[in-house]
Amino acid sequence: MAIEKVGVVGCGLMGAGIAQVCAASGYATTVMEVNDELLNRGLGRIGKQLARAVEKGKMTEADHSAIMERLHGTTTLSDLGACDVVIEAATENVETKKKIFAELDSRMPQHGIIASNTSSLTIVELAAATQRPDRIVGLHFFNPVPIMKLVEVVRTIVTSDDAYETARSFAASLGKEVVEAKDTTGFVVNRLLVPYMLDAIRCYEQGLASKEDIDRGMKLGCGYPMGPFELLDFVGLDTTLYIAEIMFDEFREPRFAPPSLLRRMVTAGHHGRKSGRGFYDYSK
Ligand code: 3HC
Repeated sequence: MAIEKVGVVGCGLMGAGIAQVCAASGYATTVMEVNDELLNRGLGRIGKQLARAVEKGKMTEADHSAIMERLHGTTTLSDLGACDVVIEAATENVETKKKIFAELDSRMPQHGIIASNTSSLTIVELAAATQRPDRIVGLHFFNPVPIMKLVEVVRTIVTSDDAYETARSFAASLGKEVVEAKDTTGFVVNRLLVPYMLDAIRCYEQGLASKEDIDRGMKLGCGYPMGPFELLDFVGLDTTLYIAEIMFDEFREPRFAPPSLLRRMVTAGHHGRKSGRGFYDYSK
């Protein structure tokens, strides 16, 4: 199946990155947001990323313009009705996602594939909201999307071989490496990464070492690009809490239980880089 038109639902951090990568890989890409303000903010972020790449000499002005020409914004979900593939990167709310999937299903061509970038929900739950459960997959990207090489391609127990293979080739056509994952909460990476980050918080709560030293330890001792607290701030503490709650609900294992410090910080509005404060201070 030839993919020409791609849709992305959500132009936040992940949606904007996904739309950027799709347009840069030659696809006519339409990205949808709920209102003009959020849409313009997301498109502005993409424009800035590309302008920076031009400044660094990694891209020509002509490439930049060609990518922006392939990229269209909308606030109407039905504008994605002609797409061959739509990637949903909306907020992590199962009811919102189900509504999006049902509407896309009613408008997209029969061969169309609907993918979710969810980091914690199971894909089959979203597939069940459609009349085409065999053409629903997970395409889980990593932040920052233009930089991180991996996409987890998730097949459910009802995904067809054709839809899975198409999704896999599509992810590869974006210049990404693919890992196949089963449709289990957290897939492969978050299944391992989330307990690691939660454990780091528990170590800090128990006074094992300072957060700076825990970060330095993991960077210098293991070669990780960021320590666990830098990564928590980068991913977002609210997002991490949300994922941990879903994983704990699914597995009922203490390693997925959110530590109380994480809960308190989220309640206090310390959500990480995006709020200016998390384990570290970004206000300056
Ligand atoms: N968006 C786009 N590009 C970015 C970026 C961003 N937010 N931040 C940095 N970059 C680019 C820079 O422009 C630079 O590009 P260049 O090589 O073409 O010049 C490149 O990344 C390296 O950036 P810097 O030199 O400024 O900084 P670092 O070398 O420290 O790299 C990093 C930054 C790539 C973010 C690196 O620290 C890293 O890999 N961190 C770990 C990220 C990670 O683990 N992500 C996964 C999170 S988990 C997830 O997403 C799953 C979800 O479900 C929770």
